[in-house]
Amino acid sequence: MKTIRQQVIKPHQRQFIDSKKKYVLNSGGVGSGKTYSIVLKTEKLIVQHPGIFILIGAQTYPLLRDTTLREFISVIPPEIIKQYNKTEQHFKFHNGSEVIFRAFDDPNKLKSLNLGAVGMEEMTDVSEEIFKMLRTRLRQQHMPGCLYGATNPGTFGNWVYKYFIEQPLENSEIIYSVSADNKFLPSAYLQDLETMRKSNPEYYERMVMGKWGVLEGVVYNLPMKQRVTEYPDLRKMHRFIAGLDFGFTHPTALVIIGIRDDKYYIIDELYRHKMTSSDIIEETKKMLAKYAIDIIYCDSARPEIIEDLQRSGIPAVGAIKDVFEGIMHVKSMIGNENLLVNQDCFYTLREFDSYIWDARNTVKEIPLKINDDCMDAIRYALYTDSKHGGVAEFAVSGERETI
Ligand SMILES: Nc1ncnc2c1ncn2[C@@H]1O[C@H](COP(=O)(O)OP(=O)(O)O)[C@@H](O)[C@H]1O
Ligand SMILES: [Mg+2]
Repeated sequence: MKTIRQQVIKPHQRQFIDSKKKYVLNSGGVGSGKTYSIVLKTEKLIVQHPGIFILIGAQTYPLLRDTTLREFISVIPPEIIKQYNKTEQHFKFHNGSEVIFRAFDDPNKLKSLNLGAVGMEEMTDVSEEIFKMLRTRLRQQHMPGCLYGATNPGTFGNWVYKYFIEQPLENSEIIYSVSADNKFLPSAYLQDLETMRKSNPEYYERMVMGKWGVLEGVVYNLPMKQRVTEYPDLRKMHRFIAGLDFGFTHPTALVIIGIRDDKYYIIDELYRHKMTSSDIIEETKKMLAKYAIDIIYCDSARPEIIEDLQRSGIPAVGAIKDVFEGIMHVKSMIGNENLLVNQDCFYTLREFDSYIWDARNTVKEIPLKINDDCMDAIRYALYTDSKHGGVAEFAVSGERETI
């Protein structure tokens, strides 16, 4: 029998790969080696169970392609692969085993499968419906019929918590890992994560130490010393960016951010109800006359208003709307003392103090959708700018909010 050549991270990868349980989950911090453990377990199943049919999936295809599939291609010895159909993402092996990669976005697409095993990436993002459907598909004769997955921890209301921790399914096992378990990670990466311990303790506990839980209370904690009356002269700012959240019955919020070195100063705001597109264009142009704003990150759910702004020569683009990641980014900036707010920005400061997590939503971590207009605008600007480095080229999209 062929043995696995790779070195495993002890103990969590070893335990995950060798687990004989029907349902096994590797839950842990970022970079701990969870995706890699899915790949190694898949390799073991392929080799030890000739003829097995394995489905590997994640909530979205891009996530699957960029993580599990990519790692799979780099780890699986090419000599055992008989055929790889790239369009179908279907691997056939010399011993008769097969592996397919699919997005877990629609349970109906998985209905007809007859599976020997299932691998599931970022399990808390996958719906409970998919999990239930897949449990009924694990019926290939003489095969282990196991479902193995990986995830960063989520909230107490997530189905993964229910099935693996609260009332564990019969014949199931959860294995925990922390980021620092992975000795293959560059030390600079681990050091960077370590800075989160102070700057963003909530992120650190969950995404590095792998703890499950519900985030409570106010979303941001902006210290008094970061509410400033003085900031660098406008001419000394290196750049200006802005965030824009559209509203009509809700207020429209525009925040202006001046950047000098690694410090971001929220220096001005516009906050007003019942603004039409032409009102927004007029007011935004006044701001552009005051500050040399090079890009305005807008709520991408309203592409038609963004188009109106662009046609009148305003540098408006759609923002990335990954709420949780965006909030975590802003929290880290506050924790690192890189975000400062002009005390004249009354509405912004008021929202900083009243923006809270939605305690009723126990499945996803989302803030309550009140007092959130300036907060959204700030998040659009800071998070999208960090991802795109101020490059105004990317297309405006009608992308939906991902939460
Ligand atoms: N056993 C291993 N041998 C070699 N490299 C590994 C091993 N486990 C993980 N890695 C590497 O460590 C990095 C993070 O692992 P990954 O599985 O993506 O973590 P996670 O899914 O927990 O975020 C990847 O670059 C991966 O290739
Ligand atoms: Mg992973």
